[in-house]
Amino acid sequence: MIDFKFDLTDDIDGESYAGLVAQAKTLVARAEEDEFGGWVNLPKDFDRDEFVRIQKAAEKINSDSDYLVCIGIGGSYLGHRAVIEALGGERGRTKIIYAGNCLSSYALKKALAELGDADFSINVISKSGTTTEPAVAFRVFKQKLIEKYGAEEAAKRIYATTDAKKGALHDEAVANGYESFVVPDNIGGRYSVLTAVGLLPIAAAGINITSLMDGAAEERAALISDGGVAAEYAAVRNTLLSQGRDIEVLANFEPSFSYFNEWWKQLFGESEGKEGKGIFPASVIDSTDLHSMGQYLQEGRRALFETFVEIAASDDGVTVPEFGENLDGLAYLEGKELDWINKTAMEATRDAHLAGGLPILRVTMPAIDERSLGALIYFFEMSCALSGFLLGVNPFNQPGVEAYKNRMFELLGKPGYEK
Ligand code: PA5
Repeated sequence: MIDFKFDLTDDIDGESYAGLVAQAKTLVARAEEDEFGGWVNLPKDFDRDEFVRIQKAAEKINSDSDYLVCIGIGGSYLGHRAVIEALGGERGRTKIIYAGNCLSSYALKKALAELGDADFSINVISKSGTTTEPAVAFRVFKQKLIEKYGAEEAAKRIYATTDAKKGALHDEAVANGYESFVVPDNIGGRYSVLTAVGLLPIAAAGINITSLMDGAAEERAALISDGGVAAEYAAVRNTLLSQGRDIEVLANFEPSFSYFNEWWKQLFGESEGKEGKGIFPASVIDSTDLHSMGQYLQEGRRALFETFVEIAASDDGVTVPEFGENLDGLAYLEGKELDWINKTAMEATRDAHLAGGLPILRVTMPAIDERSLGALIYFFEMSCALSGFLLGVNPFNQPGVEAYKNRMFELLGKPGYEK
C-alpha cells in the first residue's frame, strides 16, 4: 500500500488543510458516480474474459514476434511505457517499439530502422480511432507488415485497442478481422492504463498483469471508503496552491521512472489545467537533475512544492569497491551499497530543499514491482480526481486539447475544417 507524509514550511494554513481533507473524503462517491469514473472500480470489476484474451494475445506475440510496435499517444501510450520502463523493460522475446506518439519523420525512420527485417506485430491503440499521430504511424507500419507477410497474415498480427462500437479504427478492425480490445466508454485516456490500453503492451513485455491489478485492487480497498491518503495528498496540494504554490515538482531517484513522471504529468496536467486554474506539474529525475535543476529548486522563486516518490525496499548487489589507496577520497564509502547512497542522497535533498523553503511531500511505494506500481497508479488516479474536484474543475475532460487539433486540420487541409 502507498504511504503519504508531508513536511511543510511554516506558511501552511492548518485550518484550511483540515477543511479540505474533510471535503475530499466526501468526493470519492462523486468520482465513482461520474460518467468517466469507470477507473474507480476497475481493479475489482474488470472484464475477466478480456483479461484472459490479453494474456493469450501476449503469449502469441512472444511466440511469433521479435518486436511489438505499440502505436498510440497521450493516454493511449504513456501508461504502459511508464510501467514497462519502471519495471526494467521487456523480459521476454518481444521488445517494444513505441510509435505514433509524435509526428517526427526522424523518429519514425529510427523506429523503422530498429525494426529492420525482424518479425513483428502491431498494437494500435486509439480510443477515438481518429487521432492523427497514431493514424499516420499505423499506415506506415501496416504497409510494412503487409509487404512482409501478405494481407491475410498481417491482419492476424494487428491488435486494435479502441472503442467497442464506433470510430475509424473500430470499423477497420471489424472489416479486416483484427483481434480487438476495448477502451471502455466510461474511462478517459489518462485513466486507462489498467484497461487493455496498457495491459496488452505490458503483458507482451512479459510483465505479470495479474499482480499489477492485485496491487491496484489493494490500493482501491484502502482508499474507497474515504479517500484515505489520497484525500490527504489532494488536500495538501490545494492548500499549497491557495497559498501561491502553483508548481508541483515530482522527484524520482530512479531513472527508470522517467516515463512514470511523464504519465503523472499528463494525469494531473490534463485533469486540472483548465478554466485558468491548476497546479503546473513538472518533474525531475535525481540525483541527475540535481546537477541541472538543483540550483533553482534550492534557491529559485518559491512558488514550488516538491513531491518525492520513495521506494521502501532496498536494492543490493552494487557496493563501492575497496581499494588499497584513497586517491579519490572515497574510502569512507567503501563497502557501502549504492542503493543506500542513493536513498541518502534523497534524504539530503529533502532536508536541503525544506530548509530552502520548499514544502516537501512524500509518497512511498513498497518496492519496484508489479503490485506496488499497480497501487501507485491507483493512488495517483484517485488523488488526481479528488484534487480536481477540490479545485473546482472537471478532472475527467480535456476540452483544450481540441484547439491545436482543429487549427492543424485546417492547415493540413482536412475536409470539413476549411476556414
Ligand atoms: O487522455 C486523453 O484523453 C488523451 O491524452 C488521449 O489519450 C490522446 O489524445 C489519444 O487519444 P486517442 O486514444 O483517442 O487516440
